[in-house]
Amino acid sequence: LDHPEFKCSNGWLDHFKDRHNITFKKICGEAKSVDVNSEAMNDWWKISHIKGKMPSEEPPFKKKKLSSQHSHSHASQNGFVNTHKLQQERRKLPIFPAKHKLTQQIRSLDTAIVIGETGSGKTTQIPQFLHEAGVHRGSIIAVTQPRRVAAITVSQRVAQESGTLLGHLVGYSVRFEDVTSESTKIKYMTDGMLLRESTLDPLMKRYSIIVLDEAHERTIHTDVLFGVVKKAQRDRKKKGLKPLKIIVMSATMDVDHFSNYFNKAPVLYLEGRQYPVQVYYSTTSQSDYVMAAVVTLFQLHRDQPPNQDVLIFMTGQEEIESTVRCIRDISKDMVGEGPPLVVCPLYAALPSHLQLKVFNKTPQGSRKVIVATNIAETSVTIHGIKFVIDTGVVKAKLYNPNSGLDLLKVVRISKAQALQRTGRAGRESSGTCYRIYTEEEFDSFKKNTVPEILRCNLSSVVLQLLALGISDIVNFDFMDKPSMESLIGAVHQLHSLGAVTKEDCIKLTPLGKQMVSFPLDPRLSKTVLIAKDNHCLEEILSIVSMLSVDSVMFTPQSKREEALETRKKFISSDGDHVTYLNIYRAYKSVRGNKEWCHENFINLRNMKLALEVRKQLRGICVKLELPIESCGQDTSVLRKCLAFGFFMNAAELQKEGEFISLSSRKPVSIHPSSSLFMCKPAYVIYNELIQTTKCYMRDLSVVDPDWLYEAAPHYFRKKKPKPG
Ligand code: CDP
Ligand code: MG
Repeated sequence: LDHPEFKCSNGWLDHFKDRHNITFKKICGEAKSVDVNSEAMNDWWKISHIKGKMPSEEPPFKKKKLSSQHSHSHASQNGFVNTHKLQQERRKLPIFPAKHKLTQQIRSLDTAIVIGETGSGKTTQIPQFLHEAGVHRGSIIAVTQPRRVAAITVSQRVAQESGTLLGHLVGYSVRFEDVTSESTKIKYMTDGMLLRESTLDPLMKRYSIIVLDEAHERTIHTDVLFGVVKKAQRDRKKKGLKPLKIIVMSATMDVDHFSNYFNKAPVLYLEGRQYPVQVYYSTTSQSDYVMAAVVTLFQLHRDQPPNQDVLIFMTGQEEIESTVRCIRDISKDMVGEGPPLVVCPLYAALPSHLQLKVFNKTPQGSRKVIVATNIAETSVTIHGIKFVIDTGVVKAKLYNPNSGLDLLKVVRISKAQALQRTGRAGRESSGTCYRIYTEEEFDSFKKNTVPEILRCNLSSVVLQLLALGISDIVNFDFMDKPSMESLIGAVHQLHSLGAVTKEDCIKLTPLGKQMVSFPLDPRLSKTVLIAKDNHCLEEILSIVSMLSVDSVMFTPQSKREEALETRKKFISSDGDHVTYLNIYRAYKSVRGNKEWCHENFINLRNMKLALEVRKQLRGICVKLELPIESCGQDTSVLRKCLAFGFFMNAAELQKEGEFISLSSRKPVSIHPSSSLFMCKPAYVIYNELIQTTKCYMRDLSVVDPDWLYEAAPHYFRKKKPKPG
């Protein structure tokens, strides 16, 4: 919201009024999902066939243990839950008629690949089917999700469906939050969590079934898990232990690639209900996709009847918030032209009560517009969508092997993603998708999304593989092997952090072993561990916790000036990290007072979360017997610790007043949201780089160049002083 590119809604409004309509050309009649074509279907076994209509023969509704008194009492504790209604909804899902066949098949297989349209019921139903049929044999069924939000919302839903309290039969485990108990048998978790657990138990003995869901997203953690679970399955067999069943699920993916990797595992197709979607391409290339999407929305809004909702895909929080604001402003000006608009943002960092708004029924006679990130592509199902506006872009992490750094950048989506987005308009009836790009542009999109492991910094992954006892990283069974360059880059980075030795073979140092204990980026773990030597763990834990949650500052656009003015008292000329510490200390001094947060434009929920994170990190420090001491008011030592963790993210001020990154020698700028935005310190370190029109550094601290040299003498060369 503080970003210069996304402000001034009034300017947008004028721009919008001047703008001519965008013309689209209609292309094809029906949305198809990639790779699930009829040829592939003939090759593989088909589970059910329910295309375009409801199942005609529904099995009679059986009263199961779910309606026992015990579960009813739980259901009512869950609030508002009508178990009977939920059971009826379950029966209507496309997966339901395939229940028995599917369960039988999975029971007989070691590894299965399940493909089915988004919303067919894979994530919520399959674990329940397997549990009900006893396929789990008393152990836990783990279901991984790439997104935290999905793990939480899906487990809530499944707990409701099974008429139990969340955390009992059904639970979830995400970073810094574990809602499970002794009785949990269906455990939704982020892929990162399961990977973390595997470092403690590489054979994953707690689980009898591991479901790797949303496999097509190919997150770095899911990709590593593929290799880890495959090895666990093989090793358990060798050792005569209980077998491990692996289920890989997705809405769409390159099935052959997956099947080959999993020793020719059979692919089970679930046909979903997909109605025809008309696809329109922009006739001309659009340079401003945000504006083009808004124009498209109002074009269709004027013509189309109410209660036909619109889903717009954008790239991230700032863009979504500004688009939502813009739509609301314009709609105020357009009273009488089209039905009233209910505009909802949807992105991972949005507070959950606002996220849930998206799922509310649209009031009769109005139109809901959801502006979402790719979270709405496959992870969550939204009812009532008739129109999709696809901007064709996504924010992705890219890796620069030269500098070893990740960069967040807006890039083109893949064809597979475009098809998924299109499909969202045809879930309940036929729909329309407007693509804010030309057909030629679409043709230039990559077929599939490039797996994250091929475009990210691998230091965290390499650290975890080493902790798993896998030292021959180059020969690890990756589904798609990362380049030598990026593997070596990761080892170098870990070496410069002091986490590994590279003598005979790559091995974790005692420091590296301690780093593995923290669920943090290796650079942050290093910062924590160096803080122990500098007697300032108390403060560093607070700073690292604040960095581990989404922004603790809350800046409503209508009160922007007031918010910035009120928060001035927290700002430190040392940078954002000390500013965060000031906020943390102030929050603690008022004991987390809600009013105080409101008055100071601080996000209470994220502050609470930061405190929770801190508690956990503190627990790890206590376990490792690290003394938690305070440095009092001397904040320079804090910045020194940060420099020891983030020396590779350093930038130097140049004569012309611009910064360059020391590792890549590329120009970088201070992000407008930083407390150092108006300052020109000689050297800074930063936590994150974001590329928009410029390359912006986020979360910065002023540092002394000597600290950088001290932190990594092998990494830097000291400048020879110039004569005079
Ligand atoms: O995994 P897949 O996309 O195949 O479907 P799912 O996530 O199991 O969702 C099946 C259905 O459950 C959706 O169509 C929604 O109607 C419902 N659902 C819901 O209402 N709330 C959730 N948090 C998750 C699913
Ligand atoms: Mg799913």
